[in-house]
Amino acid sequence: MSETPVYPPSPEFVSKANVQGLEAYRELYRRAGERPEEFWGELAEKELFWFQKWSHVFEWNPPFAKWFVGGKTNVCYNCVDRHLSTPRKNKAAIIWEGEPGDQRVITYQELHRLVSRFSSVLKSRGYQAGDRAIIYMPMIPEAAIAMLACARLGITHSVVFGGFSAEALKARILDLGAVIVITADGGWRRGKEVKLKSVVDEALPECPSVRDVIVCRRTGSETGMAAGRDHWWHELDENASEDCPAEPLDSEHPLYVLYTSGTTGQPKGILHTTGGYLLQATMTVKWVFDLHEEDTFWCTADIGWVTGHSYIVYGPLSAGATTLMYEGAPDTPAFDRWWRIVEKYRVNIFYTSPTAIRALLRQGEKWPAAHDLSSLRLLGSVGEPINPAAWEWYYRVIGKEKCPIVDTWWQTETGAIMIAPMPGAVALKPGSGTLPLPGVDADVVDFAGNPVGADQEGFLVIRRPWPAMLRTIWGDGQRYKDQYWNRLPGLYFTGDAARRDADGYIWVLGRVDDVMNVSGHRLSTMEVESALVRHPAVAEAAVVGKPDEITGQAICAFVTLKSGNADHATLAKELRQWVAHEIGGFARPQEIRFSDALPKTRSGKIMRRLLREIVTTHSVSGDVTTLEDMGVVTRLAAQHDEE
Ligand code: PRX
Repeated sequence: MSETPVYPPSPEFVSKANVQGLEAYRELYRRAGERPEEFWGELAEKELFWFQKWSHVFEWNPPFAKWFVGGKTNVCYNCVDRHLSTPRKNKAAIIWEGEPGDQRVITYQELHRLVSRFSSVLKSRGYQAGDRAIIYMPMIPEAAIAMLACARLGITHSVVFGGFSAEALKARILDLGAVIVITADGGWRRGKEVKLKSVVDEALPECPSVRDVIVCRRTGSETGMAAGRDHWWHELDENASEDCPAEPLDSEHPLYVLYTSGTTGQPKGILHTTGGYLLQATMTVKWVFDLHEEDTFWCTADIGWVTGHSYIVYGPLSAGATTLMYEGAPDTPAFDRWWRIVEKYRVNIFYTSPTAIRALLRQGEKWPAAHDLSSLRLLGSVGEPINPAAWEWYYRVIGKEKCPIVDTWWQTETGAIMIAPMPGAVALKPGSGTLPLPGVDADVVDFAGNPVGADQEGFLVIRRPWPAMLRTIWGDGQRYKDQYWNRLPGLYFTGDAARRDADGYIWVLGRVDDVMNVSGHRLSTMEVESALVRHPAVAEAAVVGKPDEITGQAICAFVTLKSGNADHATLAKELRQWVAHEIGGFARPQEIRFSDALPKTRSGKIMRRLLREIVTTHSVSGDVTTLEDMGVVTRLAAQHDEE
């Protein structure tokens, strides 16, 4: 460990930071730990607007938590309305650039007008608090406007990433019992139209709960409109009232459900509520991204993932920031598109994933070198562990050795960043999320829940509930208990392995369950397996994540066929396409390997561990005593050598 380089913050950065110096961080952490109710209560009062104050800060009926009990607030009001009576009213709330190069700058006042109009549209069609909406949109301002309008009325939204297929969309609509879908004709990605409305059309015939589809015109391509069901956003907007006040909602009102992969084939709807979620999203923007009034903040995530929720929309807008949204791909028209945007809008804070960094690193330094990146003062990373080479490149080539890199560990379930450096306080070690944030009681434990020693590997757990934590899995409280709280009784189980070094720094090592991380996208092996076995030719499938230089992990599927005499090359192509159709393009396996059998235990359980070893090391060295037929493994390992 002694060889790990350490990067303390520069005195200049510290002098302007929101939290200055290690002692200031420690003091916050200590207070949050010793008197959590006082700590969070004071922040909630200072940082958020409440229609009605809570009666008590926290209620814990394990494993169900409530924060700011009895309080009434509104997320949209906090993100928009409250800024109008401040000098922020004419500040850019959203700066947007479309892939073709079109651009919009929306001030807080204008955002208020747009959100109010769309809320009126929803309200006039009879939608109200408690209803559920699906948002299936490209990265255009209307996606954020739709989220905020739902939040304004208390309509619980679920944003479905535009890369998901009709099947995946349908499953989410049904699970949520959504009554309305908000979408667009399409969006632009790598110069091509990604059609969205046609995917909605494919999904809806089997979704009887949906009454209305509102379609935003983005690409202008031909779109069939079902009479009575489908409406153009711009037509409804024509007569919309601009007077649509934010509803005072209970602090625990369901704000959104976001589906993510668990360890089964069925995605889980992670439920986030109102007051606690917003407070922690807001605080982490100030603490971790060290937000200053004049900053332009750019998080490159898609709005369909939790990062887009907390760090494109809710966190930055609540904190009164200027948040930048870009519609398209980083390599369109060329590999300098992101750096061009940084230069053009003088971006100060830039937040992306290690996968993106590695992909851009591979293209060489000439792309960033062609642009003036001197506006940048802070860089962030999220989604997977960042390897030293990517960290070093990010630090040197993008940050010019003057921007701290905040490596932020968190999850869809945690709602907000949990482990990350406060950049004016905590020295960086490349590859470590460093120290937990105030109020986050993180630990690394063994199978029995006992803390492991310094530099020992264990499970990353959180000992105490935090304001932005998930409240349950939508419609499945038992699964919520089993997945997160019953594995190590009384502790929140993150599903990640980690170690803590002698300085208390946490190093997240990756998942310990059957969840893969492909380009920072979470996918369960079972989800891909279930998709594969739905194909008529497939008898059995086992899926593992295989190390990949760019995407972190790539999907490798082992497949046995119902009849052995297929043309493997053609079928492999067909199966990859099949998975893309069943789940979405990002889930397309990189590799399909055919086999006459899969390695199983005597009780019939597929031994994925062995398959993982085969794709990683091309051989098997671990314990195989429970394996039923060793020959299968030998044949699978040999298969690779022939390729
Ligand atoms: O394994 C961890 C990894 O991503 C998982 C959460 O995925 P998801 O819910 O899709 O949210 C991603 C964006 C918050 C975690 O369990 N992960 C996320 N951030 C990091 C990370 N692994 C290492 N370092 C990180 N900074």
